[in-house]
Amino acid sequence: MSDPRFSLATDEAFALVAQFGSPVYVVDELGFQNRIGRYRAALGAYWPRTEVSFASKANSTLALLRIADRAGATIDVASRGELEAALRAGVPASHCHLHGNNKSIDELAFALESGVSHIMIDHLSEIDMIATCARGDTQFVLRVAPGVDPKTHAKISTGQSDTKFGFNLSNGAAEQALLHAQTLGIKIVGIHCHVGSQLMDGEAQENAAELLGEWLIQMRAWHGLELDYLNVGGGLGVRYLASDSPETIEEYVDRVMGRLVPILKKAEIAPLIGMEPGRSLIAECGVTLYRVGVVKSAGDKTYVSVNGGLADNPRPVMYGAKYQVELLRESAWEYQTDGPGAMSFTVDVSEGAVVTIAGRHCETDTLFENVELSRMPEPGDLIQVYTTGAYNSSMASNYNRFQRPATVLQRTNGEFALIQRPETYDEMFAREILPEGL
Ligand SMILES: Cc1ncc(COP(=O)(O)O)c(C=O)c1O
Repeated sequence: MSDPRFSLATDEAFALVAQFGSPVYVVDELGFQNRIGRYRAALGAYWPRTEVSFASKANSTLALLRIADRAGATIDVASRGELEAALRAGVPASHCHLHGNNKSIDELAFALESGVSHIMIDHLSEIDMIATCARGDTQFVLRVAPGVDPKTHAKISTGQSDTKFGFNLSNGAAEQALLHAQTLGIKIVGIHCHVGSQLMDGEAQENAAELLGEWLIQMRAWHGLELDYLNVGGGLGVRYLASDSPETIEEYVDRVMGRLVPILKKAEIAPLIGMEPGRSLIAECGVTLYRVGVVKSAGDKTYVSVNGGLADNPRPVMYGAKYQVELLRESAWEYQTDGPGAMSFTVDVSEGAVVTIAGRHCETDTLFENVELSRMPEPGDLIQVYTTGAYNSSMASNYNRFQRPATVLQRTNGEFALIQRPETYDEMFAREILPEGL
């Protein structure tokens, strides 16, 4: 059984927009906690040493990082900025691990000084850079490309052998990196892969897990090295549309662990097994609310323009991503007066409508094409977009100088709390410099 996707009732949505403005992202604490708990329970049922990390690139709002930490997840960061976010959220550095295919020496030094638990090494030159830094208790893991090709959009496919990420597993590059690190006194404790995102089933991760497990066994046989860490990354897909049916968290974990555990048991090795989901923890826990502005016809199309778009959700333009969309109207009843003292009520009986929901940016930033709504939108209505908890707020920009929206958290007691206020113009222009004499 899956947790339901989070959504707001009409009156809640209008009340939130009245209080916090729009567009606004709204996220659900309980749903996020539940999903972390489900991953932890499913993994724990298979193996004594497991770790669930929240891939913070999916949504690095500080309150969410704190919730993830308190719910027992560690935090995957992919830059110094994401590490700063985790630290400012009160997450100990020892609960964070650092990724990145082109980390700078400053980024590495900062992570090492902070005391992150692991650094996922992506390239030979990174090993050389690490060798020049003070290393403390941080452990080192090789990011590998297992050579599996997941069925997903090319821009979020990362496990194939020609990926920019990590060391190729099959052509000996990973083994060479392991031995190179050893010569520099850097102990590699294990391997990590992430094969792709929004995968509707775990077939690619299952295949990758087997390859990673076998590699650990080979390194013991060939070099006597006991590697103690194996992480299969994230990637499980979510329900953007009501018709999407990705595997549940439990089915996905069963699939990966069902393949991996017998291999490890047979070889009598017991590494810590990690998973690093982002989207499947937070995407379905979020919605975005937009206000409808202009409604107009052009050719065969009816455009419904909302007060957001490319800058707060670039995924439709980047990936052709589709979302489930719902029209919210403050009241289905329209109150009318008809002459002095007279009153009547009319029921809105308008039929459903198929529309194109457009953003407000100076390009064709179609958000949602051919969307079926319960009726024709009117200015002032709200549009609720489901499953926007991941890769929306964290990918938002100021394109066209629009301010980034607020995020509101529905607490576990049902109350709403602002966790990120809307950006101000002063913040937007704070970095600008007009040189003297210009
Ligand atoms: C290294 C790594 N781990 C985890 C993730 C999270 O993936 P997802 O959000 O699909 O679970 C990503 C996504 O790009 C990633 O690159």
